[in-house]
Amino acid sequence: MVNKIKTIVLGVTGSIAAYKAAELASRFTTEGFCVNVIMTESAQQFISPLTFRNITGRPVVTTMWDIASEFSVEHVALAEAADVVLIAPATANIIAKIACGMADDMISCTVLATRAPIVIAPAMNDNMWSNSITRENVARLVKRGFTFVGPARGRLASGKMGLGRLTSLDEIFGITLQVLGRKGDLAGRHIVVTAGGTQEPVDPVRCLTNHSSGKMGYAIAEAARNRGADITLISAPTTLAAPPGVKVISVRTAEEMLKAVQDSVKKTDALIMAAAVADFRPVKAASQKIKRQEMSELTVELEKTPDILNEVRGNFIRVGFAAESRDLIANARDKVKRKGLDFIVANDITEKDCGFGTETNRVTIIDGKGKVDELPLMPKDEVADRVLDKLRGVLK
Ligand code: C5P
Repeated sequence: MVNKIKTIVLGVTGSIAAYKAAELASRFTTEGFCVNVIMTESAQQFISPLTFRNITGRPVVTTMWDIASEFSVEHVALAEAADVVLIAPATANIIAKIACGMADDMISCTVLATRAPIVIAPAMNDNMWSNSITRENVARLVKRGFTFVGPARGRLASGKMGLGRLTSLDEIFGITLQVLGRKGDLAGRHIVVTAGGTQEPVDPVRCLTNHSSGKMGYAIAEAARNRGADITLISAPTTLAAPPGVKVISVRTAEEMLKAVQDSVKKTDALIMAAAVADFRPVKAASQKIKRQEMSELTVELEKTPDILNEVRGNFIRVGFAAESRDLIANARDKVKRKGLDFIVANDITEKDCGFGTETNRVTIIDGKGKVDELPLMPKDEVADRVLDKLRGVLK
């Protein structure tokens, strides 16, 4: 979906967390962004500009007065090139300077001159963070549309526990991508995505479930977030971290998922059911743990779960997933008709590198008019973007 190389200006200020900015620079660079790093003088006490230069392959701005720098000709060149400005870690000092409109170092100067959105990831002593002066500065910037991510609670440089740690890099990365995609092609759209495999209890210890990892649904939620959509992710249990900037509703059973979907679709543009919902559940879950020594064999009577996708209909686009082990196209076509879907994303789970738990998928998209689009094997985040391309077409 990223057509043009996006430019991130990464401002690094003098916090002990400055070394973590190297990891951020690396992640953005690996993802294909052009990363221009600006360091304050105190940041250079904690980490060398050379580190960022090698990671980003770009010159690092360390002063306003470097006449040899490609950016020095026009001190606002970086501000104009930026698609987003991220300051991580941001000290109380830089926040105060920005809140006052000062421009006496290259970061504050760039912030004042840019029209790009600005993300600030604070890191400081807990007393500095809770000080009413900092609170007022932050409130003023939030009011002006700045996005704050963190800080987190944890062990601080002083050795004590408190609120002031640089938040997780996943959080900073995710929120920056969200801010960057705010005006994307799904801006203003609300999308409900389901993910993971439901668990149907047999007794308080055991359950019936499936091999779904939730990766495909999570990838769709993140990709749609990065294209400007407002996402509700209804997730059955997975080992995946909640995507930053996404509203997550955790559920366990098909029944709970049905209820969450019904509540969430009231104002939605689309429902994407990527979850592997159990088709059957025990008629009655035992209230106590079933003891092995008390029975020679065990028969569990099963009943059908509600078919969420079939039941939840309304004035929104409905997208299903079909994990098939045979007759992929015929089965998927039948499902599109039976469940009245706008389109279905089908994959053959018996194929190598496809389906449950893998990082890649090979899917076929079949729409209500019978159009079949067979996609090659690709990473799940690319599959997610292709599914969203199809959705955008239908939404139009
Ligand atoms: O009919 P089948 O279960 O193969 O259909 C798969 C699609 O239906 C998926 O999108 C899945 O999330 C959804 N589904 C559902 N409720 C169920 C079973 C599947 O919404 N009980």
